[in-house]
Amino acid sequence: LPVPSVQALVAATGGADVPPRYLRPEAAADAAAGDDEAEIPIIDFQRLLMDSHEEAARLHGACQEWGFFQLINHGIPHDVVEGMKAGVEGFFQQPAETKKQFAQERGQLDGYGQLFVVSEDQKLDWADILFLNTQPPQDRNMRFWPDKPANLRRTLDKYSAAVKEVADGLLGVMSKNLGLEPGVIAEKCVGGIQAIRMNYYPPCAEAHKVVGFAPHSDSDLLTLVLQVNEVQGLQIRGREDGSWVPVKPVEGSLVVNVGDIFEIFTNGRYRSIEHRAMINTEKERLSVAAFHSPSVHATIGPLREVMAHGEEVLYKTVDHERSMRLFFSAKLEGKSFLQRMK
Ligand code: SIN
Ligand code: FE2
Repeated sequence: LPVPSVQALVAATGGADVPPRYLRPEAAADAAAGDDEAEIPIIDFQRLLMDSHEEAARLHGACQEWGFFQLINHGIPHDVVEGMKAGVEGFFQQPAETKKQFAQERGQLDGYGQLFVVSEDQKLDWADILFLNTQPPQDRNMRFWPDKPANLRRTLDKYSAAVKEVADGLLGVMSKNLGLEPGVIAEKCVGGIQAIRMNYYPPCAEAHKVVGFAPHSDSDLLTLVLQVNEVQGLQIRGREDGSWVPVKPVEGSLVVNVGDIFEIFTNGRYRSIEHRAMINTEKERLSVAAFHSPSVHATIGPLREVMAHGEEVLYKTVDHERSMRLFFSAKLEGKSFLQRMK
């Protein structure tokens, strides 16, 4: 179901008089309850690559206790990161007619629009997105890859490869941290899937009444998010009391989070944490999320190698096709993939 661009709505109304479909009283209720003191761990990728046991142990703790961390020194060249930021900003700045050339088509995820609008009365997120399948390269549908701005395709290609390399590096250390042979998770990710979602969150005069991205956990293995500008908006569910913990953008970092498939692989040792994106009253916010999932040939279920003898198995084991069906049926009913895997 095509829905209007929020960016166009804001341009027309200045963000006042929010249409009822965007109003979320439940978000307003706990918007102020956030824990401003807590901060997610910061992990140094170069130290992981130098085999620092201390840093690997901190990564292990972050995955168990937070499910989220900020990755600094990720090694993606400055020009690739800056090119990606300029590309995504440039894309959304273009006239509506230009962006519409890349609009999602019925029944497909790729393209410009909004994800998972399934009914007329569904509440809507205060965001526009551009979603693309980026890896493996043969899965790309170039019809939806914008050729405007001019360098965006090349930039996305470079950024996609660079982020995948970082994700694979992290997965290697995480495997080791779990006591697995280095290949166990890596093998599931040979030819692994990556999708990139570029998010544009316009400001809203009544920001506390809307939500940029409603609370959810990611259904993938590992997500790496680039915060394009300095505007804060991402919040994660605190482990202790369920309050929302804001993630403060750290210059030069990527926000990394464990997804549902990793929670399943580790039979609950690593946690896929609920999070949401909130809106600013004055400033637009942009982000680029890269989702990584195992290849279509991998089965998804708790890895026997990480489990203790006699440990209760918390999740089912399914093949790729079944996992996709569970994923879509969960989405249609507003449930999580993780619930469906129990
Ligand atoms: C998300 O992908 O869940 C939100 C990413 C963000 O905008 O920070
Ligand atoms: Fe997410």
